[in-house]
Amino acid sequence: MNILAPSILAADFNILGEQIEKVKKAGCKWLHIDVMDGNFVPSISFGMPVIKSIRKKSDLFFDVHLMIDEPVRYIKEFKASGADGITVHVEACSDIPETIRAIKEEGLKCGLSISPDTPVSAVLPYIHDCDMVLVMTVHPGFGGQKLIPETLDKVSELRKLIQSEGLDIRLEVDGGVTEDNIGQVIKAGADTVVAGTAVFKGDIIKNVKELTNKIENA
Ligand code: DX5
Ligand code: ZN
Repeated sequence: MNILAPSILAADFNILGEQIEKVKKAGCKWLHIDVMDGNFVPSISFGMPVIKSIRKKSDLFFDVHLMIDEPVRYIKEFKASGADGITVHVEACSDIPETIRAIKEEGLKCGLSISPDTPVSAVLPYIHDCDMVLVMTVHPGFGGQKLIPETLDKVSELRKLIQSEGLDIRLEVDGGVTEDNIGQVIKAGADTVVAGTAVFKGDIIKNVKELTNKIENA
């Protein structure tokens, strides 16, 4: 099943709860939550208190994308805040197997992410131990950027590998997804697609329906 995961980074934080209810009403099952530390990426977004607060009112799958250095330090706290899945960047972990182990030990789904300049080979040694690979289609750090087309080659490469090895993992794409390119993203092989601006700018319910439609007809 293909999944659309709206990224709340593009939401209006003044009415965050209402906007999350809207994406659920429009049929979404996942919520993408971008945590940035001002270190691994230049920007700072939000952390545990926000996740804890929205968890109280939402039963969506919380897909927490950690753009932070050495995320292994915070896995327990993100679990306690309400994460269902945690994705970490291979570029940000000095001990990837230990980080995966810490995530799994908390009973969470584990994702591994690669930034645009990182090759697929960086995740291959760990692909059998994780539940999802996230291919960043923009340089992490900010919403509203343009998708870098070459990154979709990595999505195709990973899809082939997942198929040939019969792996039971999700393949997520994040960054610059729009109504115009979401079909291409699915065709490249993604089954899980993050969209921030394309969901939260304008009419949320209409945007989700249109994006979902494009996913189904890709
Ligand atoms: C970028 C974040 C993305 C971002 C997506 O660092 O990881 O999840 O919020 O936003 P859009 O869809 O606007 O590119
Ligand atoms: Zn993200």
